[in-house]
Amino acid sequence: MKPPWIEPSVAQLTPLLRAQNVYRVLGSGDNANRVLKGVNIAIGAKEYVSIVGASGSGKSTLLYLLGGLDRPSREMNGNSFDPPSSVFIDGHDTSEMNDTQLARLRNEKIGFVFQFHYLLKEFTAQENVCLPMFKLGRLTRGQAMERAAYLLEQFDLSDKLTRRANRLSGGEQQRVAIARALANEPAALLADEPTGNLDKRNSERVAEIFQEIAARGQTVVMVTHDLTLARRARRMVTMEDGNIVKDTGDSFPDSPATAYQIPEIHESARIDTNLHE
Ligand SMILES: Nc1ncnc2c1ncn2[C@@H]1O[C@H](COP(=O)(O)OP(=O)(O)OP(=O)(O)O)[C@@H](O)[C@H]1O
Ligand SMILES: [Mg+2]
Repeated sequence: MKPPWIEPSVAQLTPLLRAQNVYRVLGSGDNANRVLKGVNIAIGAKEYVSIVGASGSGKSTLLYLLGGLDRPSREMNGNSFDPPSSVFIDGHDTSEMNDTQLARLRNEKIGFVFQFHYLLKEFTAQENVCLPMFKLGRLTRGQAMERAAYLLEQFDLSDKLTRRANRLSGGEQQRVAIARALANEPAALLADEPTGNLDKRNSERVAEIFQEIAARGQTVVMVTHDLTLARRARRMVTMEDGNIVKDTGDSFPDSPATAYQIPEIHESARIDTNLHE
């Protein structure tokens, strides 16, 4: 089989995840803190993207916005952004969705892995992986259990299916969390410091797993402080102070998402002069 990155598929012509002029403003008035300052990025199906940058540069904020866990700010101190600050997931403009619709889209399209696994400790490994499938409601209980077992076997956990999460090692728990994130066959797997809490050996195993699933064609976006891990991705995005300052491989150079790269110096003028209402 050819590696998936040699020939871009038709699906790659449309971004799977797109941030358009994305701002995230916390607080208001004189205390308004712009955590993201008009970020544009388009990520295609089957891409493996890492996001790096100093602590506080906005990596997690951007990741959560791309995955629909949070929403971009629409305005600052009463002024709208132009173009509107928006996130598109698989072509859907999330700003047009209510919270229930966004949660549904997220559950269907996005899998998340965090630094801390957030497994339900009283449930078994297999039950934890089943939970997103039960929530989506596409599979019967039996089918979900079967798929959970299949996923856990892929990560060498076949002998731990019925073990309660709090009786698994840290590395095992994180592998269960990855299986859980893949449960609903997400269009994109988003990870925030997935190796941040693991020792070297377990980090390496988790890094290998991401490499394998990306090579199989799974879209992966990973925030990490580990530059060795980040460089394994085919595309590396660097953030600084709420902006993307470097992107080694933008697959959509002509997309609207990347057409609005404007220097910081014009930003305040743009906010002031482009009022929507
Ligand atoms: N709920 C919040 N209230 C106030 N400020 C916040 C909040 N969440 C994030 N911030 C600020 O937003 C900025 C970006 O945070 P973010 O978590 O995205 O950074 P990061 O790049 O992921 O950092 P790290 O590498 O430490 O995880 C930081 O300056 C942070 O202090
Ligand atoms: Mg972070």
